[in-house]
Amino acid sequence: MSKRVLIFDTTLRDGEQSPGVRLSPQEKLQIAQQLSRLRVDVIEVGFPVASPGDFEAVSAVAREVRGPVICALARANAADIDRAAEALQAAERKRIHTFIASSEIHMKYKLRMQPEEVLAAAARAVARARQYTHDVEFSAEDATRSCPEFLCRLYRTVIEAGATTINVPDTVGYATPGEFAQLIRFLRENVPGIEDVVVSVHCHDDLGLAVANSLAALEAGADQIECTVNGIGERAGNASLEEIVMAIRVRQDVLKAWTGVATDQIYRTSRLVETLTGVPVPPNKALVGANAFAHESGIHQDGVLKHSTTYEIMRPEDVGAPGQRLVLGKHSGRHAFRERLLALGYRLREEDVEVAFARFKEMADRKGGISDRDLEALVEGMVQERPLWILDYFQVSTGNRTLPMATVSLIKEGRVVQEAACAQGPVEALLRAVDRAVGAEFRLLEFSLNAITGGKDALGEALVKVERDGAIYTGRGVSRDVLEATVRAYLQAVNRWLAGVPAHHQVQTGG
Ligand code: KIV
Ligand code: ZN
Repeated sequence: MSKRVLIFDTTLRDGEQSPGVRLSPQEKLQIAQQLSRLRVDVIEVGFPVASPGDFEAVSAVAREVRGPVICALARANAADIDRAAEALQAAERKRIHTFIASSEIHMKYKLRMQPEEVLAAAARAVARARQYTHDVEFSAEDATRSCPEFLCRLYRTVIEAGATTINVPDTVGYATPGEFAQLIRFLRENVPGIEDVVVSVHCHDDLGLAVANSLAALEAGADQIECTVNGIGERAGNASLEEIVMAIRVRQDVLKAWTGVATDQIYRTSRLVETLTGVPVPPNKALVGANAFAHESGIHQDGVLKHSTTYEIMRPEDVGAPGQRLVLGKHSGRHAFRERLLALGYRLREEDVEVAFARFKEMADRKGGISDRDLEALVEGMVQERPLWILDYFQVSTGNRTLPMATVSLIKEGRVVQEAACAQGPVEALLRAVDRAVGAEFRLLEFSLNAITGGKDALGEALVKVERDGAIYTGRGVSRDVLEATVRAYLQAVNRWLAGVPAHHQVQTGG
């Protein structure tokens, strides 16, 4: 007998707690719409009391996204719950997710509460949430480091107060699969009323065990798995949605479960989350990494050409990943270019197609074949630009015996500003020239360059993190020229500063 397992996506809440990530309400709405196409069961959008931005994001998703249950997080107190309910008002199907810590360490040092007080606060919170919705989830934060007998009392109390889902978080990623499965079995056997509620698990990846723990819990009786796209999240992240969903699909024979997820939307969702969060997907990431379906060795290529099942346990199409490699070249026309963009899911405005086409032609002139991955990088680079400051041109002169010097020309609302600067290194000179042109100085906190396609003529991706007036801004730029990728990434961060979109939270939440 195969069981239907619920997929609770927390990319927009726990995923957004990844260091350096900040999503605007508009970006959260865009991702939520894609999560609805992915057909997850629940979307946890945010923590409304934490910031006006999170409140606005939850309200917007509640108003506009249909299909999945829309969920908001609240600590176990009246103000948090009322704010979550207010943000969720317009949702067709809404869930309030309230939590309080249950481990000795957390109760003693963080909450400074006695166990009896925690029980009372949890019951009050659940009962209050039930006044707003019949769908209430309760989480015992740090459950895996809590006394199992106390956990039983806590879950029994919240079930009696009206919780319809009880969540067992491995908040600090401490559990091992056997131990976590044992905890789920223990709770199933010892919590009165547990058979009438959904048992959920929520695993963090501090020891790289989040997916393994979630699957072990599933085999031990969990009904819902909480996870994030690309596995992003607090510290080392959460269990990865795509890995959970595809493991359940590919190994249905042992896991005896299925999900309602439209797996052919996985790749698109992963790319969108990567673009909007700025957290790069490593090339070797299971299912969605650039190399997930690439075969390098001659023996493997020969096997795959004879029969794909020799070295592939699933097809790229199963997750919606592009299977084709070379699709376009410098002789391709607008029509083929537009068709390919559509096939990749990009519906650009006519003027954007023109800009993309011109850049594609430039790229095709310099590079033999253009892969889907190149095209995506090109369009993403453009979409992210939509700037207040636009790069007109830049020039850098450098050498081992001269002081590097950079000139930049930037445009803002039709006004062209040119500036030059010297520095010890070419990147420093370039960024200094940008600072002068935009009339503001930023402190560069982090800077990295990666090759995102293969070969000597690979596309380069630059990621920057800058600071100004205590706030942090991130940017990503893509180009075949690493200095151009750098200046584009830096300008994106500058534009985020101009747009007032810093990359940090105002209130701390659970893990
Ligand atoms: O990791 C955790 O404990 C959490 C809870 C808020 C569910 O994210
Ligand atoms: Zn968490």
